Amino acid sequence: MEEKMSGRGLLITFEGIDGCGKSTQMRLAADWLRSRGVACLTTHEPGATPLGREIRRLLLSSGKHVTVEAELLLFLADRAQHVREQLVPALAANRIVLCDRYSDSTHAYQMAARKLGQDERVLTLLDFAECGVHPDLTLWFDVSVDVAFHRMQQRQKGGGERSRFDLEARSFHQRVADGFARLARQSPCRIRRIDAERSIEQVQRQVRMEIETFLEDKL
Ligand code: ADP
Ligand code: TYD
Repeated sequence: MEEKMSGRGLLITFEGIDGCGKSTQMRLAADWLRSRGVACLTTHEPGATPLGREIRRLLLSSGKHVTVEAELLLFLADRAQHVREQLVPALAANRIVLCDRYSDSTHAYQMAARKLGQDERVLTLLDFAECGVHPDLTLWFDVSVDVAFHRMQQRQKGGGERSRFDLEARSFHQRVADGFARLARQSPCRIRRIDAERSIEQVQRQVRMEIETFLEDKL
């Protein structure tokens, strides 16, 4: 697979509401790609760079008041750093990058769920942070809020951290889910819907199929 790649690398993003299972699936997809000789980089937002880790702590720890505008700018500061420090060099080196959350999360969480809307100023800032780095393929893990809540509870029992977003009301997570559904309708070629309510193995099968189909086209 790898030898056939030429030019710029490829960015594949994993998106969905909290607890949809995307991090689990991204790990499995990376193992699968590597087992087939494809050198891929795995990364995530927020918090993949040294600066980003500090920003992530500010963003996710509960118990402090954060305005919607400040929240947006912190996510975008994290992205600006991540894009320039990690994504641009990896893509220039022709790598396949798997990224757990990217710009669609900002659309779904800040613009839809936090109700910032399609403000032109916000769109300009998003462009500025992304610096022309757009996902080539996005896998959207579609689950109901009920299923996601159940999975988050399981994860917390296993010792996982609870973020400021995990503490949000059901209605907030439903707005996030509606935001992702709208984005998928707007970009049906780039955003592929994954039926994420099935077992980990079944979901992984669909993930591999989507990535394989996409790479066959590109490589
Ligand atoms: P996300 O990154 O989307 O928040 P995770 O991948 O961390 O979600 O998964 C959340 C929890 O749900 C974890 O405890 C994980 O083991 C579990 N999980 C993930 N996918 C599934 C699935 N398809 N069925 C049941 N449980 C799952
Ligand atoms: P994280 O623990 O990484 O969540 P998950 O494992 O569910 O992906 O926390 C990231 C949180 O940040 C998540 O609740 C979504 C939110 N987020 C935004 O609100 N806007 C953004 O632009 C990004 C990248 C994440």
